[in-house]
Amino acid sequence: MKSDEMSAVPSHVAIIMDGNGRWAQAQGQVRGYGHKQGAANVKEVVRCAAEIGIQRLTLYAFSTENWRRSALEVNFLMRLFSTYIDEYTRELVAENIQAHVVGDVSALSRTLREKIERMEELTAAGTGLVLNLAINYGGRAELVRAMRRYAAECLNGGQIEELTEADVARYLYPSAAADVDLLIRTGGERRISNFLLWQVSYAEMYFSEVLWPEFGRDELAKAVSYFAHCERRFGAVKAGD
Ligand code: IPE
Ligand code: IPE
Ligand code: MG
Repeated sequence: MKSDEMSAVPSHVAIIMDGNGRWAQAQGQVRGYGHKQGAANVKEVVRCAAEIGIQRLTLYAFSTENWRRSALEVNFLMRLFSTYIDEYTRELVAENIQAHVVGDVSALSRTLREKIERMEELTAAGTGLVLNLAINYGGRAELVRAMRRYAAECLNGGQIEELTEADVARYLYPSAAADVDLLIRTGGERRISNFLLWQVSYAEMYFSEVLWPEFGRDELAKAVSYFAHCERRFGAVKAGD
């Protein structure tokens, strides 16, 4: 990356990792093969993100709507998460990464939940990149959860004051609550698919035709370079205009 772009590194990057199935099918393979390659690619992209200086990376791995897929695919993905998280934890610790899972983990198997807990505990002291894996995550579900938590606090004697935007953010999953600076979607579709609805309010959007298993170092660099050239106005006008 050119040095003049260094100051414009996005702090929170979110990625909709799409296209695993199509990538596999294009080579005459079953969808699961694409998910496996996709999981391997996560490691590469996480490493690159840390090198670039991205502080927070939130990766969409399984949406609240993905349960609609065949039992075969869902079970495959759940087993993949389990193996992957287990194996990856040691590397995360070595790379000083603090890892979290955001989403409703109560619907996941006990084995997977235990592995997630172990990963979160062992990486809690990480001071480098904050990595969020969104599993059984939905933006609407997160907002409903936030509203329930706020309501419960009010019922428990909390003062019903005027709720501010900052208050709302306090009820989201803490590690992914920060505003997203750059949202990337791979795989050619141009939609949000229920990801981080609150947090993407002023995100720059980068859509890539590249399918997730092939979205590597150079592709991430291109997305970050796109961000560096965006003029972020947040509703105001350019200074001097
Ligand atoms: C994204 O790839 C991974 C998950 C949603 C789990 P897809 O499985 O959606 O791949 P395509 O979009 O069908 O190619
Ligand atoms: C979004 O991809 C969810 C993840 C990448 C985990 P989908 O493939 O599920 O999204 P749609 O169905 O094409 O919108
Ligand atoms: Mg898809």
